[in-house]
Amino acid sequence: MSEPRKILVTSALPYANGSLHLGHMLEYIQTDIWVRVQKHRGNQCMYVCADDAHGSAIMLRAEKEGVTPEQLITNMQAEHCVDFAEFLIDFDNFDTTNSEENRKLSSQIYLRLKDSGYIDQRLVTQYFDPEKNMFLADRLIKGTCPKCGGEDQYGDNCEKCGATYTPTELKDLKSAISGATPVLKDSQHFFFRLQDFQQMLQTWTRSGTLQDSVANKLSEWLDNGLQQWDISRDAPYFGFEIPGEPDKYFYVWLDAPIGYMASFKKLCDRIPELDFDTFWAKNATTELYHFIGKDIVNFHALFWPAILDGSGYRKPTGIVVHGYLTVNGQKMSKSRGTLIKARTYLNYLLPEYLRYYYASKLSGSVDDLDLNLEDFVQKVNSDLIGKVVNIASRCAGFIHKGNAGVLVAENSASELTEAFLAAALSIANAYETRDFASAMRQIMSLADRTNSWITDKAPWLLSKQEGKQAEIQVICATGVNLFRKLVIFLKPVLPLLAADAETFLNVAPLTWNDHATLLFNHQLNEFKPLMTRIDEVKVQAMIDASKEDLVVSQTCIGMAMPVSV
Ligand code: 2FM
Ligand code: ZN
Repeated sequence: MSEPRKILVTSALPYANGSLHLGHMLEYIQTDIWVRVQKHRGNQCMYVCADDAHGSAIMLRAEKEGVTPEQLITNMQAEHCVDFAEFLIDFDNFDTTNSEENRKLSSQIYLRLKDSGYIDQRLVTQYFDPEKNMFLADRLIKGTCPKCGGEDQYGDNCEKCGATYTPTELKDLKSAISGATPVLKDSQHFFFRLQDFQQMLQTWTRSGTLQDSVANKLSEWLDNGLQQWDISRDAPYFGFEIPGEPDKYFYVWLDAPIGYMASFKKLCDRIPELDFDTFWAKNATTELYHFIGKDIVNFHALFWPAILDGSGYRKPTGIVVHGYLTVNGQKMSKSRGTLIKARTYLNYLLPEYLRYYYASKLSGSVDDLDLNLEDFVQKVNSDLIGKVVNIASRCAGFIHKGNAGVLVAENSASELTEAFLAAALSIANAYETRDFASAMRQIMSLADRTNSWITDKAPWLLSKQEGKQAEIQVICATGVNLFRKLVIFLKPVLPLLAADAETFLNVAPLTWNDHATLLFNHQLNEFKPLMTRIDEVKVQAMIDASKEDLVVSQTCIGMAMPVSV
């Protein structure tokens, strides 16, 4: 047997200034399923994440709410953790980027980059709010659009006519925070010399680390030549001060990915056998994967590997990119009630419905994924309840009634049992390559064949005849064994259903390799319904509630979805 793989996995860090919604959950569910597959198959796999706690957006939101940024991010982290837990996202550690570990690692990485000559300094001229005494990012500046004359437009693009521009082109400039007229002011900024990593990135992005379409997109940037990257922000800013540079802070996007390392460091501190360097040293042979949405590819596939390389750490094995979530074929929309908070969903529906639906649509590509609510109800009810759970409920009664709940020692569908064995490797490969849609199709096709076989054998008709009990017991024991195999294949997607099935089957937690065995002469527990159908009324109630309850901060809408508010 081959050695278990050692794998570290992350999902993008959610901003600590907004609630999670179903766009976020697409990524966490995708990652969680992949991590559970690895654990299920006996690999050592760890999944870490954290709240992305820094930046001016969080600072300004805290100010608006009359709390400190620390209070805001603590409350948000508590909310996020509860939502994740209820969606069965099984992090090995969930942290915050505002941690001591992250401060230390960010400083160490910056100082190493500086020592190696990868940090430059120069003056930058930027708009400054003289009342708030702070520099203004483009989206904190408002004015009149130079193209269409639309008033009150943001500093980088016009929502009325779609024009893009720099703030200097806007007329009647105003600070979006205080309303004061911004003035231009110079300030010293620190830059990471990304251009020094051009060669390395050209090779790394083409070495099997990225999906082809992502590598092609990056080629466009790489071919144009890389520019230095501004990694500093002036006070006031909620973040880490740059060592030796008072009133200068790391830009949030510098310390955010370092948060992956810091969260893992915390896990190592908790689990003595885990060694930080085994996963992060330059010569590490372990695997490292970052799951992200397509909007943040440049940060993860250009800046991040360059930062790691320049500071003496290993680079990721792979960046896994997914597309945006749309609902009913359109951008999520507050007014249509399709911008659905994780909490609102959980108030009406079970997490495994969504986990299954996303799995059935995730193919491992960068294409957008549509949550079509009619299809969602239809698919979950038909596949999970109508196919999978149905097998157990068709067989369990006969076994309890006719044989005191004991599975007999004989199995009759040898062809079907062979088909399950033959499919296992292909299902495992589909999971491994993140083509969960293919895995679900293959599993449901096995469920269909099992149901047809039971229908054909019709134990309910045999039970009306004399002397057929032995035959009925063989049929139903076979059915329950095939059900058990389906549960093993589905366990990474449906961990709660699997736990309930394990109780019914009266077995220890199932692992992947158990699919190759059968239960004989085995006592079952009482059968209780394993999952209920989705009630369409609840889906409508969730939409209605979403129309009312969602207040999404503009700064939190970048992740895993296009939004129209
Ligand atoms: O786009 C976002 O939502 C960011 N908060 C993701 C950060 S991922 C990582 F690099 F820190
Ligand atoms: Zn305009």
